[in-house]
Amino acid sequence: MKKLSVLVVDDEKGYRDEIGEYLVDCDFEVQKAEKPSEALEIIHSAPIDIAIIDLKLPEMDGIKLMKKILEFDPEIAVIMISGHGDMESVIQAMHEGAIDFFAKPFDLMDIQYSIERTRKYLALQNQISTIRQTYEKLLTAQDTGKRYQMIGNSESMKNILHLMKQVADTKNTDVLITGESGTGKELVARGIHNLSERKGNIFFDVNCTAIPENLFESEFFGHTKNAFTGAETSRKGWFEIADHGTLFLDEIGDMPLSMQAKLLRVLEERKIRPVGSSQNIHLDIRVIASTNKNPDDLISKNLFRKDLFYRLNKFHIDISPLRQRLDDIVPLLEYYNNEFSLSMKKPCKVFSDKTLKVLMEYDFPGNVRELKNMVEKAVIMSQSGDAYLKIETATGKSHKQDAGNLLSNLPDLTLQHLKSLEKEMICQAMQKVKNNKTKAAELLGTTRTSLNRKIKKHGLEF
Ligand SMILES: Nc1ncnc2c1ncn2[C@@H]1O[C@H](COP(=O)(O)OP(=O)(O)OP(=O)(O)O)[C@@H](O)[C@H]1O
Ligand SMILES: [Mg+2]
Repeated sequence: MKKLSVLVVDDEKGYRDEIGEYLVDCDFEVQKAEKPSEALEIIHSAPIDIAIIDLKLPEMDGIKLMKKILEFDPEIAVIMISGHGDMESVIQAMHEGAIDFFAKPFDLMDIQYSIERTRKYLALQNQISTIRQTYEKLLTAQDTGKRYQMIGNSESMKNILHLMKQVADTKNTDVLITGESGTGKELVARGIHNLSERKGNIFFDVNCTAIPENLFESEFFGHTKNAFTGAETSRKGWFEIADHGTLFLDEIGDMPLSMQAKLLRVLEERKIRPVGSSQNIHLDIRVIASTNKNPDDLISKNLFRKDLFYRLNKFHIDISPLRQRLDDIVPLLEYYNNEFSLSMKKPCKVFSDKTLKVLMEYDFPGNVRELKNMVEKAVIMSQSGDAYLKIETATGKSHKQDAGNLLSNLPDLTLQHLKSLEKEMICQAMQKVKNNKTKAAELLGTTRTSLNRKIKKHGLEF
């Protein structure tokens, strides 16, 4: 265990030395100061856990010194030494933030007891701060989480559910989840957590895109007090907070390579060392990493370390885009229609066959998230006299992105019109880029695979 560092401030040399020597014998690190100015200098230059301060001092009284110390570092525990008849000042000191006191003349054992009490108090403070961080995280998870139900009838979704159960049954197999934006990577990660023995513990999600590069290490590993300039208090890192639970690393390709190397070591050794500490902390954790980019591309652009990829790739779940699992569209539409109608207290309406057909042909560049948003808007806009739920808008950059708008703005438009419009747009795009399918797909805001599918569907040849 790290030695506690104690500062003794007393202008009477006899007391100062007596306390100091006794505490050194008790295995504390001790610094001594005769005057408040000296004490403040020490506080500013070295980490101090406990300050023992005499009430009567030259320059300023002990209470004033305590206030200055606590202003600089509210985590320092202050114990007051008082003379006889100083009870009023002692009470004032306790009100102002001292955590204990002992009276002169004192038995040296009293000081040791007082320090032992303080040690327990500091340990408790530390525990409270960890519990607070964990609690806040759990609250957020509860707020944003509600229910994490995975909907889908497609073979591909059934396979994903099977893989989730398989990996959830292992104690700490790490997982890599890939898939386009909005396909449900976070939902799958939460699902694995909830299906596993860890479900009663924390699911801690970290978006690697949102962390400034210079903070990665201290955020993940935590740090001791004064480990670096600005580290005024000790802080637990995310690995430690997520201990016994699941750590979800979203957008792993945005994690700096140096940090990826450290992550790999943690995955292999299952232990960390906070910045500034000499102690290792053993972890019982499952790490799930995800990216919406192609891992091979990330590796070739030097954004994803190959060794980390191989390690995570031992259990890889790839979620297909929604346009490749058409069997999921109707169940998802129904599920979100029910959900939103219920939460908005509106009678649940149905989709017309025409709308369903258009949606089945739509590309959904934003995947399930886009579908969910479309349904939410449709339920918001629905009027009591409407026969059907109209899909009014669709986001995304697909050439069919305005499927919803077209439907609502041009009610007489038939599916046949839409199909020929699509065919025409493909031809024009291909002509513009001299039949380069990748470029044409880009121009149309879709993928090359999807473009190929449509070219085939329309019987086109290029
Ligand atoms: N199979 C599903 N069943 C029900 N809802 C789903 C399904 N898949 C995704 N969703 C919903 O779609 C939205 C997007 O899912 P999620 O945030 O998990 O996607 P993501 O792949 O992590 O996206 P991004 O890469 O943009 O972070 C969420 O509201 C989620 O609940
Ligand atoms: Mg996500």
